[in-house]
Amino acid sequence: MKSVVAFIFLISFNLASAKIFLNCEFAKELGKNEAIERVYIPHWVCLAQGESQLNTSKLVNYPNQSSSYGIFQINSKEQCGKDKKGGFCNIKCSDLLDDDIKDDIKCAKVIFDRSGFNNWKSWQNRCKSTSTIDKNKALPNLVNCQYK
Ligand SMILES: *[C@@H]1O[C@H](CO)[C@@H](O)[C@H](O)[C@H]1NC(C)=O
Ligand SMILES: *[C@@H]1O[C@H](CO)[C@@H](O)[C@H](O)[C@H]1NC(C)=O
Repeated sequence: MKSVVAFIFLISFNLASAKIFLNCEFAKELGKNEAIERVYIPHWVCLAQGESQLNTSKLVNYPNQSSSYGIFQINSKEQCGKDKKGGFCNIKCSDLLDDDIKDDIKCAKVIFDRSGFNNWKSWQNRCKSTSTIDKNKALPNLVNCQYK
């Protein structure tokens, strides 16, 4: 009986820590970080859609032993630490899987300051404008979203 209760507790705990953001909700969370430039918010939403479908608990293990974590798919090779705080974000990777994405946003901004949006393949594939015709083609429409 005890183990059944523990099991149910574990399941509900896992559900509570995973979250799928809606575009506007995510844009608002980005807007709370004053270091994020407002004009880039649609780009951030677009790239996170591509990386994680805005799933905060997405974890992908690659054959090369590295793993990518959370809504921005931050990678353990250099960006975060697998067992303890580390990487150039000085954060523990597993802390990037919960539904509090303030730390994810902070780390994503550190990555952006080092290498720009090009760090993210999904940005290059879906969000980067390559010509004036498809300019901003995949960028989400956030006009009705009141982010600050
Ligand atoms: C979110 O990601 C987790 C971990 O990869 C996965 O188990 C879960 O099914 C995903 N949720 C949705 C709605 O895709
Ligand atoms: C491991 O593979 C992933 C996905 O292909 C890639 O993004 C990452 O840079 C690779 N890491 C290393 C250590 O080569």
